[in-house]
Amino acid sequence: MKKLLMGVAAVAAVSASMMGAGAAQAADAAAGKDVFKVCMACHTAEQGKNKVGPSLFGVVGRPAASIEGFKYSGPMKEKGAGGLVWTAENLDAYIKAPKEIVPGGTMAFAGLKDDAKRADLIAFLAEQK
Ligand code: HEC
Repeated sequence: MKKLLMGVAAVAAVSASMMGAGAAQAADAAAGKDVFKVCMACHTAEQGKNKVGPSLFGVVGRPAASIEGFKYSGPMKEKGAGGLVWTAENLDAYIKAPKEIVPGGTMAFAGLKDDAKRADLIAFLAEQK
């Protein structure tokens, strides 16, 4: 099992370095790719590919509720209209406690409480553009 996990980490590190990311950032993003698995039930990081949730391609720096054709909840649309942008800080707060940042929103996810995992995940998302 341990051997297998190390193999997976090595593959992730190689593919991150092939994308030309800096060494320190690559380590975080590679770990973040693994964290993203908890989001993949409802999201992809591919452009134009929505599931139950909107595509998270290019989400870092994107205004909230801005994927055309995706059926956002009323509260999420209000946040977008009110100027909420998914900066790293806002994403961090939303992923930690979705219902606190967008009360009444439809993202059925309890929140990821581990600070380091959220940081890795956001580093990964920042590369999806
Ligand atoms: C059970 C399904 C589900 C899971 C799991 C889930 N999401 Fe979502 N997500 C949604 C839905 C549905 C929406 C739309 C929410 C709304 O309109 O209120 C959403 C919206 C979002 C948005 C806002 C996007 C935009 O275009 O404004 C972000 C960012 C986001 N999710 C990130 C994540 C991340 C990161 C994870 C993993 C840690 C995750 N989500 C896990 C269903 C999910």
